[in-house]
Amino acid sequence: MTDAIIPPASSSLSEGEIPHSKPLSKEGISPTSSNGEISPTPPSSNEKIPTLSKLVMGGFNDQYYMARALRLAERGLWSTDPNPRVGCVLVRDGEIVGEGWHQAAGEPHAEIHALQMAKEKAAGATCYVTLEPCCHYGRTPPCTDALIKAAVGRVVVAITDPNPLVSSKGIEQLLKAGITVDTGVLSHEAEQLNPGFLMRMRENRPYIRCKLAMSLDGRTAMASGESQWITSTEARSDVQCLRARSSAIMTGAGTVLADDPRLSVRVDELPCQLQPDKQVTIKQPLRVIIDTHLSMPVDARMLSLPGQTVIFTASNSETLKSMLEKAGAHVISVPSRDQAVDLQAVCQRLAEEYEVNEVHMETGATLSGAMLRAGLIDEVVIYMAPILMGNKARGLFNLPDIERLNQHIPLDIVEIRAVGNDWRITAHPINTR
Ligand SMILES: NC(=O)c1ccc[n+]([C@@H]2O[C@H](COP(=O)([O-])OP(=O)(O)OC[C@H]3O[C@@H](n4cnc5c(N)ncnc54)[C@H](OP(=O)(O)O)[C@@H]3O)[C@@H](O)[C@H]2O)c1
Repeated sequence: MTDAIIPPASSSLSEGEIPHSKPLSKEGISPTSSNGEISPTPPSSNEKIPTLSKLVMGGFNDQYYMARALRLAERGLWSTDPNPRVGCVLVRDGEIVGEGWHQAAGEPHAEIHALQMAKEKAAGATCYVTLEPCCHYGRTPPCTDALIKAAVGRVVVAITDPNPLVSSKGIEQLLKAGITVDTGVLSHEAEQLNPGFLMRMRENRPYIRCKLAMSLDGRTAMASGESQWITSTEARSDVQCLRARSSAIMTGAGTVLADDPRLSVRVDELPCQLQPDKQVTIKQPLRVIIDTHLSMPVDARMLSLPGQTVIFTASNSETLKSMLEKAGAHVISVPSRDQAVDLQAVCQRLAEEYEVNEVHMETGATLSGAMLRAGLIDEVVIYMAPILMGNKARGLFNLPDIERLNQHIPLDIVEIRAVGNDWRITAHPINTR
């Protein structure tokens, strides 16, 4: 099932304005930068882009055009799953003659859109593409064949594709056809755009982003389990954008029992500055529940909502399993480790069986602590509210094995910004990177 989602019309470009490369944060391009350069969600497909005649320019370098290709690729932020977000720009004699981005799996790749726009002007042009062109028959024919047929003169690639079906073979084919190929232009920024796809291809697991809402004294729920709501409406609305870009939303049995969450993307909760200008359709992310003993209730709210729910369990109870399956969930048994679900096994199965690129985790301190200890959290997004919840309230991550200060887990903070009345802190645990 799919829901209609309204993408933003938040371009910083006005008609006739020449686009320019985004300022780089510590992490390169930040999809949620607040400076108006980059939308927190994919730029809308009818964003006003300068007409081609106005883009006649000379003297701009490869970074300039690659920045534009990255900007185009961002438009697929919510829709290309399980494929990567890719953008392409074709330039001949200093003029952009074609451009495009990959919109959805099964639809033409970015290069094909750009070639279709350029027509015969593609001959001799330089092609800027954010990911190595594919050279295999997947859901669509190889882009390398199309680029060779169109007689482009040079291809500039941001990063090579770690997909074993491509993995530098696309570049080899272009070189064999006599096309000049350069790689590594804005590669860091290109990596930032597809952390999940790249992680899945390289390490056979998804990229896992753990979102937590906490008080100024680092508490995420009262001792009773009450936690709704710690942060402002604006912060919760911001979270909807993180959910929208994810292939899956994961939580633990504890949160299901305490909050009965929906784990869905909700159009009416997206930030209000994202004014509707065009409807696109995105899939609801897969809901993933980690539930050792199958304690999830059969009348859990999410089971009656559009989208798919998968429960990973270590329970052998066929009765509980069949009750939950009758209620609409898909129950998967995985091995147990330390009397709980083996989290590594879950991640591997999400990558292999569901092609999950990015996981958005919203869970309590028990599961988030276990995931952190297992080295499975790649990014932490904390919304910090200006409230104090006191000593009895629960913390961020249950980390019982840390007793001495020198056993601490260091984090690399890459962005801090205000969201409504709260602060959003984005960080990477250093030991998992
Ligand atoms: N502030 C926030 O951002 C935020 C976000 C979400 C939730 N919360 C709050 O957090 C509270 C719930 O937190 P919680 O810690 O009780 O529950 P939790 O972390 O959501 O879920 C923990 C449960 O996950 C299951 N699990 C399965 N395998 C596991 C493994 N390998 N390691 C760890 N857990 C595993 C266990 O279920 P079994 O019992 O079946 O073993 C465990 O009880 C609620 O009060 C909720 O409102 C706060």
